Amino acid sequence: MKALVLSGGAGTRLRPFSYSMPKQLIPIVNKPVLEYAVENIVDLGVSDIAVIVGDRAAQITEALGDGSRFGARITPIHQDRPRGLAHCVELARPFLGDDDFVMYLGDNMLPEGITKIAEEFRADRPAAQIVVSKVPDPRAFGVAELDADGAVVGLEEKPNRPRSDLALIGVYFFTSAVHQAVAAIEPSARGELEITDAIQWLLTHGHGVKAGEYDGYWKDTGKADDVLECNRHLLGALNRRVDGDVDAASELVGPVVVEHGARVVRSRIVGPVVIGAGTLVEDSRIGPDTSIARDCVLRATQLTDSIVMAGASITQVPGLHGSLIGRSASIGPSDHAEAHHRLVVGDHTHVEVAA
Ligand code: TTP
Repeated sequence: MKALVLSGGAGTRLRPFSYSMPKQLIPIVNKPVLEYAVENIVDLGVSDIAVIVGDRAAQITEALGDGSRFGARITPIHQDRPRGLAHCVELARPFLGDDDFVMYLGDNMLPEGITKIAEEFRADRPAAQIVVSKVPDPRAFGVAELDADGAVVGLEEKPNRPRSDLALIGVYFFTSAVHQAVAAIEPSARGELEITDAIQWLLTHGHGVKAGEYDGYWKDTGKADDVLECNRHLLGALNRRVDGDVDAASELVGPVVVEHGARVVRSRIVGPVVIGAGTLVEDSRIGPDTSIARDCVLRATQLTDSIVMAGASITQVPGLHGSLIGRSASIGPSDHAEAHHRLVVGDHTHVEVAA
């Protein structure tokens, strides 16, 4: 079996981050979302992995390398613009050949892994094996309709009136039968080659399509709130580890990780919290539910339920909550005496200030 990871896309819902980085590299507990995907694939014994990349190809290639770090071989495939999930399958056809493959959306998190679903597929080898999960509002997803025996009878992409509450989540298994389906479909009203249309084509033409219900934790990290929620979820499993320096005037409470070369000075850290390598936390109160990446500086700051990316600095901010702070961002007091806020923020940035 081979794997196809989708790591292009526009990422409009994760602006401004997606202006400067592919959203699949957003860190959850200080590790890019995309790395979790590759690890889950390698856990299946699959080592030949193609990754669809868009404009930010270089950053993805830099993050994953040739794949040897994961025990895999990574082949990047460039997509000129987001033309749909089924278009990614078409682009990867020369790589995939006639092999079975798992297609994995690079912004999806399934921390409990996908080995059980893969076993179901390998046992039966239907033309397509989709994975569904119950969601409260399926209108933003591909939606599957199943019959009483659990067989897939229909699929719809982002329906206004969903026929079930079963959303397709970002992992699909296919045999080479899917290539015929992808070649037969036309772009949808939004101009994309939809994978749901390809699977519907397989159904209509008598191929086997199965659905497995996934009841573990799953998150599409396409939006800031979902990124934070997923970070909280994964931090919930954190174990204490202190490899850096914590001075006698500081207190660590609960599961706190202080990475090598990090320093905690006169501060109170309430876990779960991760403090990345080389980061300084001074005179601050951090946590719970917070990850701070490497080489950051936090001084006289109070921070909860947040993600701080590499190289950021935060000084004298007493009440930061539910925040995503980008790489090398700097937040701190004004050089001027006047009591005002001065903001230099990028396009589509979202700032909430306490009144
Ligand atoms: P989406 O999150 O559905 O699309 P998007 O990245 O364009 O996001 P937004 O709606 O915020 O603009 O895509 C799911 C995954 O598939 C994601 O990892 C990006 C990837 N993808 C591609 O690689 N190529 C494509 O043509 C599309 C549509 C998505």
